[in-house]
Amino acid sequence: MSPDPSDLPAVQMRGITKRFPGVLANDHVDLDVYPGEVLALLGENGAGKSTLMNILSGLYRPDEGQIIIHGRPIHLRSPRDAIAHGIGMVHQHFMLVESLTVAENVVLGLDSTGFVLNLKQVGEELAALAARYGLPVDPDAYIWQLSVGEQQRVEILKLLYRGADVLILDEPTAVLTPQEAADLATTLRQMADEGKAVIFITHKLDEVMAFADRVTVLRAGRVVATLPTQETTKAELARLMVGREVLFHLSKKARRPGRVVLEVEELEALNDKGLPALRGISFTIHEGEILGIAGVAGNGQRELAEVITGLRPATRGHVRVYGREITNSSPRQAIEAGISHIPGDRLGMGLVPNLPVSDNLAMKAYRRPPLARGPILDQQALYRFARRLIEAFRIVTPGPETPVKLLSGGNQQRAVLAREITAGRGILIAVHPTRGLDVGATESVRRTLLEQRDQGAAILLISEDLDELLQLADRIAVLFEGRIIGIVPAEEADTERLGLMMAGQVV
Ligand SMILES: Nc1ncnc2c1ncn2[C@@H]1O[C@H](COP(=O)(O)OP(=O)(O)O)[C@@H](O)[C@H]1O
Ligand SMILES: [Mg+2]
Repeated sequence: MSPDPSDLPAVQMRGITKRFPGVLANDHVDLDVYPGEVLALLGENGAGKSTLMNILSGLYRPDEGQIIIHGRPIHLRSPRDAIAHGIGMVHQHFMLVESLTVAENVVLGLDSTGFVLNLKQVGEELAALAARYGLPVDPDAYIWQLSVGEQQRVEILKLLYRGADVLILDEPTAVLTPQEAADLATTLRQMADEGKAVIFITHKLDEVMAFADRVTVLRAGRVVATLPTQETTKAELARLMVGREVLFHLSKKARRPGRVVLEVEELEALNDKGLPALRGISFTIHEGEILGIAGVAGNGQRELAEVITGLRPATRGHVRVYGREITNSSPRQAIEAGISHIPGDRLGMGLVPNLPVSDNLAMKAYRRPPLARGPILDQQALYRFARRLIEAFRIVTPGPETPVKLLSGGNQQRAVLAREITAGRGILIAVHPTRGLDVGATESVRRTLLEQRDQGAAILLISEDLDELLQLADRIAVLFEGRIIGIVPAEEADTERLGLMMAGQVV
């Protein structure tokens, strides 16, 4: 439903500006939301979405600008103040007390009379709200007993119980399963149909198209567009959000596979609990080829990457690089054999957060010239090396000396990618290389992988994103309970077939 222009917006934000030290987080932002609509607030990481909504929910004060609620200008001093005006927000990090029940959390912080409230009656009212909005949750359950999805429902119920008619959700689907996300979409729609105004923050284009009536796009603190979703496309939204053309379908050149680079034969290994995780895995990857590994998480993907990179012992079988046996070698020996690794957990294993970008980029090159002059590290050569990679891989950083932890997720991933790709001379093991990245960063990572393939690299791509596998891989192997249930050429694969194989069916 698009708003009738004669309606009065529930909220008008006018000229909102918010500065943090060194950052203009919101730059004269205008935003309207109407009763009866779901509005998506779309933008890349760091665009200023959370800041803007923290202002609307009374958590931050704007440096400039005005907030008008149902036609009346107001000043919000606190979240409590905002909720008194009917505005409530579900934050990315929930604000629930683990040791209290659902009903207790809901009344917590209400006026002191709240505590003489009959909890049983609160429970009944909650159950009624839960049924009306499709938010099933047990009022007597303790928060610590609940899943993340259930805790989110409690946060929403808390706002509904307090009579919010403007509901803000900050990246609500980030913590949900696809089914839970679909249920949430129904709930948001239901709330809008009852006349509430709903704002949800996201950086996912599919969600904007599926959930929202209108979308406001933020880029670098400014509103770049507000559009009805029916009158726009994912491609247009991506362009507005990123500020350049984003290709959803990267064209893959015909494959020219060369020699066999990686050979895995009858590989077996145990998981952390000492149970079989890999039960006889065999495959080969050639120069100029991407082999994708599909599968539901926990079917041996992690163990496979770890065995190949020397982080986990094999109990049987072989790993060979250019015919040379590297089974059960150390990580250092694996690197020397030409294996690079983009780990699934970027900050855990990929980067040293407190070290400068330059050191993180050089971590695999510093033992060799030109960075090493005998036993001494050449600091100037290090900076030159880092600057070259920063430019080539479009890493946005104030400089090579900046600690890597201050970079955005997308730029951290580009740093890992830059380091691993330049270190590698044989094979790249890429584990969930685009997980958690926004569209712009995802595209540039994928494009880089394809470029490397075209230049002759052999890549093992482990991903839970079937679209990613279908786009990038030449062949796709499906892992199920530690075995490869089949390997299909990408041209013959589609999501349905892969989905069946991921469930263990041979098709
Ligand atoms: N409390 C804060 N202190 C300093 N800088 C902040 C704070 N909150 C956000 N920022 C900065 O403001 C900008 C916008 O951040 P944010 O609103 O969180 O973006 P988004 O939610 O769109 O990812 C970023 O550059 C971020 O680093
Ligand atoms: Mg945010």
